[in-house]
Amino acid sequence: MKLLRMKKMLWIGLLWCGVWCSAAAQPFTFNHGPYLQELTQEGVTILFTTDQESLSWVELKDPQGTISRHYTLRNGLREAYNTFHAIRVEGLTEATTYEYRLGSKHIVDFQPYKVTFGDSIASPWYRFETPDPRSTRCSFVALSDMHQDAGKLTHLLQLSEVNTVDRVFYVGDMMNYYADPQEPFRSFIDPSVRLFASERPFVLVRGNHETRGKLAREYFHYVPKTDGQFYGAYRVGEVMFVILDCGEDKPDDFWVYAGLTDFDAYRTQEAAWFEQLIRTKEYRTTRWRVVMNHFPPLTHLTQPTDTAAHGERDVMAKFLPLYNRAKIDLMISGHTHEYAFMEPANEPALRFPTIVGSTETITRVDIEGKTMRVKVLNVKGKILKEFTVTK
Ligand SMILES: [Fe+2]
Repeated sequence: MKLLRMKKMLWIGLLWCGVWCSAAAQPFTFNHGPYLQELTQEGVTILFTTDQESLSWVELKDPQGTISRHYTLRNGLREAYNTFHAIRVEGLTEATTYEYRLGSKHIVDFQPYKVTFGDSIASPWYRFETPDPRSTRCSFVALSDMHQDAGKLTHLLQLSEVNTVDRVFYVGDMMNYYADPQEPFRSFIDPSVRLFASERPFVLVRGNHETRGKLAREYFHYVPKTDGQFYGAYRVGEVMFVILDCGEDKPDDFWVYAGLTDFDAYRTQEAAWFEQLIRTKEYRTTRWRVVMNHFPPLTHLTQPTDTAAHGERDVMAKFLPLYNRAKIDLMISGHTHEYAFMEPANEPALRFPTIVGSTETITRVDIEGKTMRVKVLNVKGKILKEFTVTK
């Protein structure tokens, strides 16, 4: 009996050792990314993760072949013993192609006076190009409301020939809510990396669903911007892109928000910013103005008292008068899950064409000089709308 018990203990010990040893033998690795954010004429942010705590960096190679190493530095400390890495590289030259690769050193143990490093790893080389302020060409795609369907996202991006555009816009509700740190990767970051995002950026326009969940307040660190805001504007050559953040659809005192939101005040703050923006020389002197916001400007929603449309009504009240002064050439939105195209002539309150993307559509825009070509495709590849604007 005693021998049997000893044998059993030995087997349990061997089994435990086997499990532990195989876990310990897992190679240290990069497990998400890299993907680019806020690519400007002067800088870019490169994001990636490692499966274990590390010291990580980016190596940048300029056209002359000179390699520089970049870390995230905070208050004199290099970011370390972390797994999520967002490294901003500044001092770039416009209209220039750079190569980059990731580097990382596993930190096995971090004692106050002794840091023990493990394996070092490096990624393959990738490349990106900084925007050319004199460029008269720009291509992009925009889609929304995938609600965590990574397969459909991949399919739509491929249909739009995403490998031939400069950037991609996700116009909200790529997830149902944010309660799991892996969800942004599963829903849209990993599929984007597989297709384009290591070398061309995507821009996230937050949807109302992405304000929900216990981690919603951490969402920004996946799509960081130097000004700290989800909303903003930036000019690429002759195109000014404006991103507005619509917030939640129901009133702030709606019971499910538990007193944790104040989107009415936020939209007021945003409207004040937008009003300033459209007065700037940079905005006024651009040839093309493209605005993205998750809530479409549905003018018929201004009257009803439907609770679920409070956010849209607030957007209409605060943003629409500004939209109509802003000489917008194209607006792209989503939210309703029903494709629509609103001609300026059909909606007297709107002085610009608006595409309302559905859960099944993607919009591709190609700008070349004085011509903007717009095409909306559905998941079957059918063209729902195609038009050209010339000016
Ligand atoms: Fe939505």
